[in-house]
Amino acid sequence: MKPLHKVLKNKDTTINPIWIMRQAGRYLPEFREIRKNNPNFINLCLNNSLSSEITLQPLKRFNLDAAIIFSDILILPYGLGQKVEFEKNFGPKLGKLDLNKISKVDEIDFIEKVHRVYKAIKEVSSSTILKQKNTIGFVGAPWTLLVYMINQQSPKKKLKKDFFKDKFLINRILLIIEKFLKIHIKNQIDNGANVIQIFDSWAGLLEEKDLPNYIYTPTLNLVNYVKSLNIPVICFPREIKNYKEFCEIVKPDGISIDYEIDPVKIANEIKIPVQGGLDPKILLTDKENLKKETIKYLEIFKDHPYIFNLGHGILPETNPEMVDYIVKTVKDYK
Ligand code: CP3
Repeated sequence: MKPLHKVLKNKDTTINPIWIMRQAGRYLPEFREIRKNNPNFINLCLNNSLSSEITLQPLKRFNLDAAIIFSDILILPYGLGQKVEFEKNFGPKLGKLDLNKISKVDEIDFIEKVHRVYKAIKEVSSSTILKQKNTIGFVGAPWTLLVYMINQQSPKKKLKKDFFKDKFLINRILLIIEKFLKIHIKNQIDNGANVIQIFDSWAGLLEEKDLPNYIYTPTLNLVNYVKSLNIPVICFPREIKNYKEFCEIVKPDGISIDYEIDPVKIANEIKIPVQGGLDPKILLTDKENLKKETIKYLEIFKDHPYIFNLGHGILPETNPEMVDYIVKTVKDYK
């Protein structure tokens, strides 16, 4: 059985597999080299030979237990025909959302635009490097995608005052997002993804009263869909106000936690397998501190099914040597 499956399916507490959010990315010089010659980020995601090469880059350097396919959560709005661009030192910039236009998109149109992501997954998952390892497919959660599609850029710390003004628009878009996320998940699985992670990066922007409508219900629908395909699913509702309630309602196979939440509280309150937590900024300090903080998480989750990861994506300024060190620290821990 593959390492993440041992934890997620068998609830194995004797091993701590490790992978790192954004492990294929800008902290690696070999990624920056490819990126330099590919100024259009979406086109790079859709270049299956380069995206599969980038996906495997971190696995060639470090003894990680899983590959996560090099793509982006914003491939979904792109596939629906909304313009998506990435501007240097700014982040994503989306075009205006045209409900009429995206309502007319069908499954064939969508797959035609994004099918190279599936081709890349197929290439990657047949590689010998991944024989004993997992291939992680992923999507953005409906809420986080809604935020990007309406806001047209990262919302930073809070939503615009009139974000919820057009309820008709919001409800229609959520349904469209959900429909195409299922299609996107199914195609990733059919091409070799054997774990799915759902990234809800902006879960923390919602007040508790809005969680059922915008997070619990749409995410539960997706989680049940992934389970029906017999593939384990990990949710990352970053900075959500109530992890315990989220797990009780949505019931994913694993819960990925951010670095603001107290891991001791999580270990006490949550029974399902846990992933992540360590602050990515710790990798910018020194090895001694990194080891101390890594072991802190491993100790807290000693008797819990636990996948090692960070509490958010690895920072671009991270020294790859620190990644090697953290992987070795986790592997040497008994
Ligand atoms: O984890 C991996 O290695 C797989 C690839 C991956 C990327 N994005 C590649 C990427 C994954 C899983 C994502 C998820 C993603 N994308 C999320 C959820 C996780 C999170 O960070 O909260 C979100 C919110 C996005 C949207 C997005 N993509 C933003 C806000 C940005 C700009 C900010 C940033 O970190 O650069 C991106 C760009 C992006 N996605 C890059 C990479 C490697 C950097 C692109 C570059 O080279 O300029």
